[in-house]
Amino acid sequence: MMSDKKNILIVVGTRPNFIKVTQFKKLANTYPPFNIKIVHTSQHYSDEMSTLFFQEFDLQPDFFLDIPSNLSPVSQMAEIMKNLEKLIQTKFFPHLIIVVGDVNSTLAGALVANKMNIPLAHIESGLRSFDQSMPEEYNRILTDRMAQYFFVTEKDAILNLKQEGIKDEQIFYVGNTMIDTLIAYQDKIESSNILNELKLTPHQYILLTFHRPNNVDDKNGLHQIIHLIESLNTQLSQQIKNIVFPIHPRTENNFKKFNLWEKLNAIPSLMLTPPQSYFHFQKLIKYAFAVITDSGGVQEETTYLKIPCITIRPSTERPVTLWEGTNILLPFDISKICDYLNTPSHYHTNYQPPELWDGKSTERILKTLNTIMQHHNP
Ligand code: UD1
Ligand code: UDP
Repeated sequence: MMSDKKNILIVVGTRPNFIKVTQFKKLANTYPPFNIKIVHTSQHYSDEMSTLFFQEFDLQPDFFLDIPSNLSPVSQMAEIMKNLEKLIQTKFFPHLIIVVGDVNSTLAGALVANKMNIPLAHIESGLRSFDQSMPEEYNRILTDRMAQYFFVTEKDAILNLKQEGIKDEQIFYVGNTMIDTLIAYQDKIESSNILNELKLTPHQYILLTFHRPNNVDDKNGLHQIIHLIESLNTQLSQQIKNIVFPIHPRTENNFKKFNLWEKLNAIPSLMLTPPQSYFHFQKLIKYAFAVITDSGGVQEETTYLKIPCITIRPSTERPVTLWEGTNILLPFDISKICDYLNTPSHYHTNYQPPELWDGKSTERILKTLNTIMQHHNP
């Protein structure tokens, strides 16, 4: 007998993608009649950028695309597209493809959906930094050109989509599935022993992450990171004892390539660590004095957790974190950064998390898709 369940294929490829889809399969088993499969494009492949997360979330991808690591972006996307097409032709034909966020795997998944005439939903659509030097900005815009269903995390995204000609009835303000994960795993995060392992005292360390090409792909950016850490060491109040820097592989590779790795390692009080698991990293955010980052997702998590966040970028695609959250954009200007950190009255404290960042966004997406798929029958 043929199943009347609708097949949905979720395409993920990078660390932030994995973190945004943890609740789909759990909920699909109990709620709408969907047969959900997850395909991992293998864009991120190192254990600490990939396997670790699936272990923590007890969520195994149903399919892995067999693509070599360390390809150029063009070859990587071409391989993802070829392999995804083959998977769809031979193993699992979806009634709908879901792509997430703004990475190369997102755009590759969207192109495959478009070329194979499969309806496409985009989670975290409509975000715009208006900075075309970011590879992600093209991924966002082009993915949204090809999608039919737009799930948005903040209200600004609705405006951006409408300005690009998307119709009201295709846009669904559902909140943030990354925050669903944060809420779902609160107990496990609290149980992480990372503060003991690293001998950190709560609220007496600053957490750093850097991986944006604009900050880490040339020697100048890497020097600025070293200078920033050295200055934080000397100029901050006595309260700050450590700087913790779980380093992204792109950033580590570049420090090594430009012969700056030894210099970075020699900075007193810097705790350089491999990328942390999700539970450890959330615990590190939760008990930090402040976070300094160029990440997209970390801006949202610090806002939810009400931890001051300095984003070293000229723009953000997540403006709600500036207006209703703890985030501020600053350049690599040491005196501005130290002034900000040394003046706690600057920090926002009296606000609520953005509307619908309540742990139920995945459920809203599934309910919406259920309605859509019954009425439009994709
Ligand atoms: C990608 C996304 C970026 C996202 C980030 C999340 C694009 C264009 N960029 O950047 O938007 O913020 O993921 O972390 O899609 N590497 C490893 N092991 C890994 C992954 C990467 O060693 O598991 C190294 C490799 O040398 C690789 C380099 O990092 O060539 C860059 O990886 P890539 O996936 O191209 O981009 P990210 O910088 O990770
Ligand atoms: N993260 C993690 N371990 C780390 C650094 C980040 O688990 O060592 C999490 C972080 O909390 C967030 C996601 O990874 O949930 C963000 O990924 P990243 O900064 O790599 O990508 P972006 O959001 O900038 O695309």
